[in-house]
Amino acid sequence: MILRSMLFVPGDSDKKLGKADSFKADALILDLEDAVAPGRKPIAREMVPDFLRARPKDARKVQLWVRINPLGTPDAVEDLRAIVAADPDGIIVPKVSGPADLQRLSYLLDAFEAAAGLPKGNIQFMPVATEVAPAPFALGDYAGANLSRLYGLTWGAEDLSSAIGASTNLGPDGVWTHTYQMVRSLTLLGAHAAGVEAVDTVYVNIADEEGLAASCRQARSEGFTGRIAIHPSQIPIINEGFMPSADDVAFAQRVVDAFAAEPGIGALQLDGKMLDMPHLVQAKKTLAAHAAFGEA
Ligand code: COA
Ligand code: MG
Repeated sequence: MILRSMLFVPGDSDKKLGKADSFKADALILDLEDAVAPGRKPIAREMVPDFLRARPKDARKVQLWVRINPLGTPDAVEDLRAIVAADPDGIIVPKVSGPADLQRLSYLLDAFEAAAGLPKGNIQFMPVATEVAPAPFALGDYAGANLSRLYGLTWGAEDLSSAIGASTNLGPDGVWTHTYQMVRSLTLLGAHAAGVEAVDTVYVNIADEEGLAASCRQARSEGFTGRIAIHPSQIPIINEGFMPSADDVAFAQRVVDAFAAEPGIGALQLDGKMLDMPHLVQAKKTLAAHAAFGEA
């Protein structure tokens, strides 16, 4: 299932967890990492599994993911010990350097799942794959890494800026500077190379709803299939932004029909433009997304 919107909810906030059932995000990300102060991590590690257990997987209306602390820290092991038995749908893994980190996590999950009596391999994961300086160099390596739990790749700009000593990640025009545009594109390409979803990063200006809508449409047209949200008001905007428009659906149907009318033909003409196999693949993806979500 494709997740359009994934809303971060701080894992130690009674109030925000209490509201979370009313949100129509495709997934919630219950956070144990940066949204939780160090002294509050133990309490979050109790609240998040309680939240999960109160919503058993077969009764969940939305997927419930958890962001753990960075791999290789004692906090991460404590997080896994606390949450795996409560059966989250997926785990967001921050500050990943490359696929080898996730291979090790996979082995840990195998062991924790077995200990909890859960089926092996059901818990998915998605790395935030650009938050440390070496990470962008590994974005092409997720392809072929054989990570069956890998849902997608997402990227982050804030931690990368701090990792490289940058005082800003935006130019005077408010647009990502080159480094961040580059890692965003590499995330997109790395995800498609690996055959998994590309998930765009947070839009921090919560008040700018029009800007978020335009940015989601742009991201979808580039090949991203979803986006992380930080505020409930962003959910409907993101959901709509990642659904195919009526025009997209109508055109995709015409492409599929045109190829169906000429079986065995690899390239043809529609509205005076050449279409070949990649266009057919894209059209089928659009129709599949439309079937799953309806139209914007
Ligand atoms: N999850 C659940 N509820 C949330 C929420 C979230 N991410 N963000 C806001 N809300 C709730 C608020 O509690 C508030 O509830 P109320 O109407 O009962 O008071 C309501 O939605 C409106 O929120 P608002 O007052 O506009 O925002 P805020 O100042 O309370 O919170 C943030 C702003 C940014 C702190 C908050 O959106 C947030 O915590 N976002 C997630 C942060 C995070 O997890 N970051 C880590 C990844 S980058
Ligand atoms: Mg962070």
